[in-house]
Amino acid sequence: MNRREFMTWAGAGLLATSLPVALAACSSSVTTNPTPSALPVPGVLPEDGAAMRPIASLTDLKPGIPFEGKIDGKPFAISGNPSKPESIVAVNPTCTHKGCITPWNAETKQFVCPCHGASFDDSGKVLKGPADKPLASYAVTVKDGKIFTKA
Ligand code: FES
Repeated sequence: MNRREFMTWAGAGLLATSLPVALAACSSSVTTNPTPSALPVPGVLPEDGAAMRPIASLTDLKPGIPFEGKIDGKPFAISGNPSKPESIVAVNPTCTHKGCITPWNAETKQFVCPCHGASFDDSGKVLKGPADKPLASYAVTVKDGKIFTKA
């Protein structure tokens, strides 16, 4: 094998091994915990024209326990009554005081910030300071048993 043949062969091998990594790095992602039911990925356009993506199924919602995950690296928590789709809300559980991630406390049924103690209800409303603004919310659409949002 001469130098030219070797370089061609090595270049093809490098492309073959790096292409999947490059494609994975460029793709957007929705991750959830726990894993939602299998979801189709239809292109849904709400009236404002922005693309919305499926992030959960109605069956993923449990009473009193927000369904949490990430979309494009941003955390979300979905709450509401699956039999009343209009009640479903999605918030970003990043505290509006100084930006700490605010986990759900199942006992108090609130998002409680571990940094300075602010708390929020499942719709993001401030229950206790020092935060003085509600959690950011995501637009939500429910269709065919699936919950869609945009980040
Ligand atoms: S960062 Fe949440 S209360 Fe300060």
